[in-house]
Amino acid sequence: MPFSRTFVFCLLLNVAGLVAASTPNKIIVNIDLGTEKISKHIYGHFAEHLGNCIYGGFWVGDNSPIPNTRGIRNDVIAALREIDPPVVRWPGGCFADTYHWKNGIGPRDQRPAIINSTWGGVSEDNSFGTHEFLDLCELIGAEPYICLNVGSGTVQEAAEWVEYVNSDAKSPMTDLRKKNGREQPWNVLFWAVGNESWGCGGNMTPEYYADLFKRFSTYLRAGKLYRIASGGTDPDFHWTEVLLQKTQNYQHLIQGYSFHYYTFCHGWNHKGSATQFDENDWFHTMKNTLFMEKRLERHIALMDEYDPENKISLMADEWGNWFDVEPGTNPAFLYQQNTLRDAVTAALYLNIFNKHARRVKMANIAQTINVLQAMLLTKGDMLIKTPTFYVFKMYKVHQDAILLPIHLTCDDYVFDGMNLPSASASASKDVEGRINLSITNINPNKDVKIKIELRGINRIAKVTGEIITAAAMNEYNDFAKPEKVLCKPFSAFTVDKNLLRVSLPSKSVVTLEME
Ligand code: AHR
Repeated sequence: MPFSRTFVFCLLLNVAGLVAASTPNKIIVNIDLGTEKISKHIYGHFAEHLGNCIYGGFWVGDNSPIPNTRGIRNDVIAALREIDPPVVRWPGGCFADTYHWKNGIGPRDQRPAIINSTWGGVSEDNSFGTHEFLDLCELIGAEPYICLNVGSGTVQEAAEWVEYVNSDAKSPMTDLRKKNGREQPWNVLFWAVGNESWGCGGNMTPEYYADLFKRFSTYLRAGKLYRIASGGTDPDFHWTEVLLQKTQNYQHLIQGYSFHYYTFCHGWNHKGSATQFDENDWFHTMKNTLFMEKRLERHIALMDEYDPENKISLMADEWGNWFDVEPGTNPAFLYQQNTLRDAVTAALYLNIFNKHARRVKMANIAQTINVLQAMLLTKGDMLIKTPTFYVFKMYKVHQDAILLPIHLTCDDYVFDGMNLPSASASASKDVEGRINLSITNINPNKDVKIKIELRGINRIAKVTGEIITAAAMNEYNDFAKPEKVLCKPFSAFTVDKNLLRVSLPSKSVVTLEME
């Protein structure tokens, strides 16, 4: 029997109502179900001898008129201390597999200049070497993470570097270190055995690299070491499998496995401008960032298969947005601006790493200063903090906190017939028992009203919040306007017992601290 038009219309309305009612924007935070610690090293950094990351970024030399401590910029030290950097990876990247560490020790005026053949063929005077890097780490309170040269170096050179840095026993290397002014070893824990050995690190096959990894790792012996193997490209699951298979009976030699993922707006050949973009570019940047989780999960699944006891950590030791260089700058220097879009994707990346804290024990954004998705940009004696810096500042509450399981349901952000979940979140409980919840709204056009339920308590006593957002999706800080995008207090929420109702502005990242 045919239905009347009115009946069908009412039915549709009811169905729409039911659907709307069954998909509220809601986050349930299970505050007593957390077991896993979010390693503080997930909030790590990466500094390569590339463009102006080291030279002009960190390092100006002790004769510079720019205020410095033993050659390291004071403004950089102060800014980085604000975000509690837990670890810095150095000297590369691709540069690491060309780096011969002995060129970078001893009196600076006697160090040889070399060519940085990876990044623009520019001269590298080696004034920033092992001692300067380890001094920098001490000044900013970060742990060092050194990447060894496997591609063009030798086992002996790598073993001697570890001995120089870590040994307390008398040897030619420790004598040399003392002669160069450092009595005590630094005891560096984290060592990468090559970088991207599938490409710039030697164009190897996984089978060849796995053998080489074991050979190098065997002779790295001074002190307690965390040896990190190079991963393949992010879609190369075969590399992961071969490496895990071939090291299965040598687990004392491998503690970490590296994973790199970069977001290009539309792909490697169409990275797009860092500042001049439209909503289509915004959407695809979000989409490509969120896709990282799929890649990560497949590598983790393989690790779970070969290392069910979770002894080998996944180290996402390069990640971030990679856009076109700023017009007029050296294409080999990878200098790009940083907008609100970078802040939002940084939050997405960090939420994903937090979520996988069981296996992901370190992540290092590429790179700290003046390169790719930087924290800081410098120009002469000026320095600006990027929107990404402020996300790291807001997220530092998650360092070493207990990850809290969340259940998130939200509307989609729909663009041109494609859709993505509009919200992403991450929650943790710190040692004082405070709950920190970070929420991101990737929709650049619509606020999200979201209900948050804290399961496990009756009443939320106190809430404070911070937000980073801007009127335009491509807003950024520049030397002429250094504070356009930064984190500000946030109070668009109401509290009712253990419920919080939050109005999350479009294109924003919010962190709420609850007691
Ligand atoms: O971060 C820039 C480069 O990207 C690194 O040197 C390399 O490891 C990666 O391909």
